[in-house]
Amino acid sequence: MSDQGEIILEGKSYKLPVIEGSEKEKAVDISKLRQDSGYITIDSGYGNTGACKSAITFIDGDKGILRYRGIPIEVLAEKSDFVETSYLLMYGNLPNRAQREEFRNQLSGHSMIHEGMIKFFDGYPTTAHPMATLSSMVCSLSAYYPEHLDPKDKTHVNHLVPRLLAKMKTIAAYSYKKAKGQPVIYPKTDLDYCSNFLRMMFGTPAEEYKIDPLMVKALNVLLILHADHEQNCSTSTVRLVGSSDANLFASVAAGICALWGPKHGGANQEVVEMLQLIEREKIPVKEIIRRAKDKNSGFRLMGFGHRVYKNFDPRARVIKVYSDKLLANMGIKDPLLDIAKELEEAALQDDFFKERKLYPNVDFYSGVIYRAMGIPTDMFTVMFALGRLPGWIAHWMEMHSEGDGRIGRPRQIYSGETERPYVPMDQRK
Ligand code: CMC
Repeated sequence: MSDQGEIILEGKSYKLPVIEGSEKEKAVDISKLRQDSGYITIDSGYGNTGACKSAITFIDGDKGILRYRGIPIEVLAEKSDFVETSYLLMYGNLPNRAQREEFRNQLSGHSMIHEGMIKFFDGYPTTAHPMATLSSMVCSLSAYYPEHLDPKDKTHVNHLVPRLLAKMKTIAAYSYKKAKGQPVIYPKTDLDYCSNFLRMMFGTPAEEYKIDPLMVKALNVLLILHADHEQNCSTSTVRLVGSSDANLFASVAAGICALWGPKHGGANQEVVEMLQLIEREKIPVKEIIRRAKDKNSGFRLMGFGHRVYKNFDPRARVIKVYSDKLLANMGIKDPLLDIAKELEEAALQDDFFKERKLYPNVDFYSGVIYRAMGIPTDMFTVMFALGRLPGWIAHWMEMHSEGDGRIGRPRQIYSGETERPYVPMDQRK
């Protein structure tokens, strides 16, 4: 097998080193191509561009495989919890008993946010989207740790990582409480991550919140399934921003903003709003499929399709099973789940979706579970952000520990005007 690729440009041959990953994926290294030939490569949407080597997550989109540090996502969803999975992603291995205890204690112990920050929430209108609040609050955390912001200093990073993980859930819950006009509920150190979050969301000072183990398990599973997905849009954003040596909070805040878009994490909110619209206006499923296929309609079937998965999304499979279980156990009959199933069936039988290999993605059923848990629709993307946080941190840490330290800076092919004169105002048309 040749370990070199070759490209011929204007009759001249250039050798390109071949790189092979641990799962035998292959790449040609074009990093010297411009220097040697004057050519760059163009790849809209980076669909064929590897920006780094990474040892965190493996995806085989054709086979529907997703593994964190080598462990299949289905196994983690069944056997692990979110805190342990976060440790695995960020530090490379499952924690032993002592490491797990220490990490849990750190996350519980650092859950409170500075009292001054609680006042920030009052400045936002109650209509503020919680993703707007979350991104700015996470960036604001930088203001409280001016002495620990050096991404190259391991003691700084180790100081910030558990604090960010612990505090982001508190910020998320407070943004909900403030929007509802309810007092914030302080975290309790003796509660695990998910129980703490649920209590801060749904507890009130008037009565003690009863923790439901079923809800805690469902939340753990959802967060685990969202915890990493290699070089997706928000993670690549965190890496790119981090490559300028921006601090951890600033880099993650940028990732939150990238996640917000409806083609990425914002899709879970859009799915439920689409299902609600279908229910409210009694739109036949056939008509929705017709609109999704019509390029002029500007409408896409939200929760369908994926850049990487072209067979099925393994996260969607696990979520579908859990949404059935959770709703049955809670005795909830949600008409939106029936509509979702009907839509899925219709789309999977349709040639347009078959030919383009469009299958339900992680967002198609997650909203149905969040609804059953009482989480409001505009908080869905915040839930995705809470889940994705350890993945963002893991990639940010990996980039700083292993990368070549170069700032991320793509090139372009300029397609504008060539040099032209400056026209004085009175001569302009
Ligand atoms: N409904 C209708 N048509 C679609 C859809 C859809 N949801 N997704 C893709 N297509 C069509 C698209 O019009 C195109 O058709 P053609 O080849 O005739 O031009 C073809 O399928 C390929 O689409 P693409 O936009 O080139 O694919 P992509 O890999 O660039 O985009 C995607 C992937 C997820 C952005 C896209 O499938 C989409 O917009 N889906 C809906 C939004 C969504 O559910 N996003 C959540 C993604 S999973 C969670 C996450 O990672 O954030």
